[in-house]
Amino acid sequence: MNHIPKRYTVTAALPYANGPLHIGHIAGAYLPADIFVRYLRLLGQDVVFICGSDEHGAAITLRAKKEGVTPKEIIDKYHFINKKAFEDFGISFDIFHRTSEPLHYETAQDFFKTLDAKGSFEIQRTEQFFDEEFQQFLADRYIMGTCPKCGHPDAYGDQCEKCGSSLNPTDLINPRSILSGKTPILKETKHWYLPMQHHQQWLEEWITTGKFEGMQPPIAPHNPEAWKPNVKGQCLSWLKDGLKSRAMTRDLDWGVPVPVKEGEGKVLYVWLDAPIGYISATRQWAADNGKDWRLYWQDENTRLIHFIGKDNIVFHCIIFPIILKAHGGYVLPDNVPANEFLNLEGDKISTSRNHAVWLHEYLQDFPGKQDELRYVLTSIAPENGDSEFTWKDFQTRINSELVAILGNFVNRVMVLYHKYYQGVIQSERKKFLLAENEQIVRKTYDALKENIEQYKFRQALFEVMDLARYGNKYLTENEPWKRFATNPQQAEQTLTECLLLIAHLGACLQPFLPATAQKIFTMLNLENPSIGWNNPIELKKGHTLNNPQLLFEKIEDEIISQQIEKLKQAKMGNKANSPVITNTPPAKPEITYDDFAKLDLRVGTILEAQKVPKADKLLQLIIDTGLDKRIVVSGIAEHYKPEEIIGKQVTILINLAPRKLRGIESQGMILMAKDDQGKLHFVCPETVINPGADIA
Ligand code: 2FM
Ligand code: ZN
Repeated sequence: MNHIPKRYTVTAALPYANGPLHIGHIAGAYLPADIFVRYLRLLGQDVVFICGSDEHGAAITLRAKKEGVTPKEIIDKYHFINKKAFEDFGISFDIFHRTSEPLHYETAQDFFKTLDAKGSFEIQRTEQFFDEEFQQFLADRYIMGTCPKCGHPDAYGDQCEKCGSSLNPTDLINPRSILSGKTPILKETKHWYLPMQHHQQWLEEWITTGKFEGMQPPIAPHNPEAWKPNVKGQCLSWLKDGLKSRAMTRDLDWGVPVPVKEGEGKVLYVWLDAPIGYISATRQWAADNGKDWRLYWQDENTRLIHFIGKDNIVFHCIIFPIILKAHGGYVLPDNVPANEFLNLEGDKISTSRNHAVWLHEYLQDFPGKQDELRYVLTSIAPENGDSEFTWKDFQTRINSELVAILGNFVNRVMVLYHKYYQGVIQSERKKFLLAENEQIVRKTYDALKENIEQYKFRQALFEVMDLARYGNKYLTENEPWKRFATNPQQAEQTLTECLLLIAHLGACLQPFLPATAQKIFTMLNLENPSIGWNNPIELKKGHTLNNPQLLFEKIEDEIISQQIEKLKQAKMGNKANSPVITNTPPAKPEITYDDFAKLDLRVGTILEAQKVPKADKLLQLIIDTGLDKRIVVSGIAEHYKPEEIIGKQVTILINLAPRKLRGIESQGMILMAKDDQGKLHFVCPETVINPGADIA
């Protein structure tokens, strides 16, 4: 290796903004990426951590169709739900961008134009399925039919989920459009294809040896030994089958428009557009933070690391590298540490069957316990093969490891130090008095470094917990609670050694359990240190510790039974347990007080109400505003019968310009709140007050 990394660009797969995140996503890509980035930051490395919502492709349009809303409504809803869940879980992205942002359109279109100008695409005219009723070509998942390999009647145009075969739409037996349900016709269309077969040779060399003939800076060699066998294996199997041309455009109306002549009505294939999202996100972050984004993508001394799940390997190890190299001037990934899948209670995690633990629900059900889930998911991370989450195992790991080992050690030492010395450090301690204590701490730092740098986070955390195990044993064996009477000096030495062990333990825990590490340093009343033996931690004589606080609580059986029951109910199709997604709309842009003061809001009383003929949704109301009695037409007829609302008080905006609805002039607007089920509710005073009361 002849290049020394100066900086790291770390990406985590952009999740589709078509649904909430579950623990499989977290264990697969986001948590390992966060641990890695937090570790690099503690070492003082220049690192940018990139993610965002993937907002194009059939994943979004199909979800919109299912929910009966527009794709824009879908992406706005899930972008904010996922962004908040990541934040609450402590995933420390530098930016969580969106592929619907104009900067992304510009970046992706520039990329496409450069590739087109360089002749990197070939144009092919082919016959593709077309839905005559909907006047739409049927890409990927818009078409279903019988799998030619296994006979599954509901295979998709790109894949059969039963046997896993990768398919072309024209392979399907009895194809049907998912839009009209009818048999589609074949119609000619034109697309831009990436002739991947032209890249077969250098890719083979690059994946197996880390470099290729004619390799130019800024592309730097990677260490092929450092790539995980599952990742290399999947790439080599694709290469063995022989790469083929793959269409990089689609006939869809949702996506980044193809920016060249004759591309009208077509958009970029989502798997071309999404990885470029990493670049546009970096550009946005750089612009926001006074940085040069090019250094993070176009400099030989940058290491690009993609954290993904195994279903994304081909896109990050073959297709995106081809695109980056064909464009020129970009680095290639140094590593793609993809994880396998996490199963749940003996079954695959499935969004459609609602067999999942949803991150935002976990955070609601277990408030403040994000580190507990981080601990369990890291301990069982599917690093070398699929692994399994069960609620019983979650409970055991928390109760017998976090509570009984880590929490117990820290708590016993803190309580004793306060009891005997009122929390005031008795003798200065920079280094351990006992050589064995120093040795074990040094060994932990070495093991931590070695494992994290090889993306073995599971083992790295195990090593840190070993230090806690050691601390517990050391404390128990030295019995300061007995020695305090017989040999007070030795008791004090033991406890101060333990405090130093706790401080180093806290340092090591920072990448994995950041909130817990923070609690430890708050108790110790010390600044958060860096990570490593060379960053000594010092306890000064007279330094005062803060009061002990419990790091973890035991998880009771009842809580676990509830979660298991919830999963069972969800599997049986009980909608009450399907992911509860609040339809909270995103925040609107800031306004000034003057903007707000323009609104004349009053309390009004409904005097009369009647249905508007031939309008299912409208009621015509007469409202006493305190100033006058006026007609307001309101879209509440599906929620309230006229007779039930007479006398009800409402909030009314009285200075809204009048407008005609079904020929009736409406002179104002009443304010309604919409709940998660879409039902409207009046916004009214707690008790009846005089109409005309000003609302400000
Ligand atoms: O599989 C997925 O969820 C994709 N949205 C991942 C995209 S990763 C990257 F290329 F943006
Ligand atoms: Zn099949």
